[in-house]
Amino acid sequence: MASSTVQPADQTRQPEREAARRLLESSAKLSYDPATEVDWDTPLDEDFHGMSPEWSTLYGTRYWQELTEAQRKELTRQESACVASTGIWFEMILQQMVLRDMYAKDPTDPRFQWALTEIADECRHSIMFGRGAAKLGAPAYRPGRFVRELGRAFKTLAVGEAAYASILVAEEVLDVMQRDWMRDERVVPFVRTINNIHVVEESRHMKFAREETRARLRGAGRLRRRAQALVVSIASYFIVTSMVSREVYEKAGLDVERALAEAKANEHYKSMMRSSCAGLMEFLASAGLLTRPAVAVYRRAHLI
Ligand SMILES: [Fe+2]
Ligand SMILES: [Fe+2]
Repeated sequence: MASSTVQPADQTRQPEREAARRLLESSAKLSYDPATEVDWDTPLDEDFHGMSPEWSTLYGTRYWQELTEAQRKELTRQESACVASTGIWFEMILQQMVLRDMYAKDPTDPRFQWALTEIADECRHSIMFGRGAAKLGAPAYRPGRFVRELGRAFKTLAVGEAAYASILVAEEVLDVMQRDWMRDERVVPFVRTINNIHVVEESRHMKFAREETRARLRGAGRLRRRAQALVVSIASYFIVTSMVSREVYEKAGLDVERALAEAKANEHYKSMMRSSCAGLMEFLASAGLLTRPAVAVYRRAHLI
């Protein structure tokens, strides 16, 4: 038999194939086209927040108390756009990782077909987030130079469980925030629609990421598991810290140094992050990815 012939389905991957088949069915039943689902035409109503105010990095601080309601709303709109922009940055990283992972794999495998479906979802999401940020009146929020270059290396090199577990971290953190925002009547309606679309489609991505992380770790030695656990925690650190940018305070017309100092010391925000990551940490622990060095990094990022 020619060596280039695709081998018959790998029986050990049967449960993952079955899971991917179910994801494909679910996606065929319920997916969205943001170009038509989101209200892009109604001008921005500045009476609304951009996210639930409790998720603002300044909520609960002294500075927050001093802000007018209009300033708070402008701040949460900029912060919401910044989170969406960080989402785009990471979605581009993950699209490339998944595409690389599926290169020259068996196209008849539902896992292959699901992976490409996920890439198509992310492509629509990034356009949706970009349009959303523009409508919120935001500039191009991007991670700093160092993190951008780190991301460039990561999307080119990360493989296996490190890639899928990092994808999961980014998706889980966003998921918890967006679930709050999509139900919150203080949040501007088009952002609620965007978040609703994202939450529905990402729940499938998270299932796939969990399955793949577990599958790739099957049979992994102690050394590899420890190394990958650390890689995932460091990736998570940069993903989460990039969701907050000093430019947000600048754009909202605040005293940037003061805002940064108060946000850094904001225990309310840190506890929101920690509680939103409880389920994620449970999963990482069950996968053997919560090693001691990794926990130290998660602690620094206030995820644990
Ligand atoms: Fe997405
Ligand atoms: Fe995703």
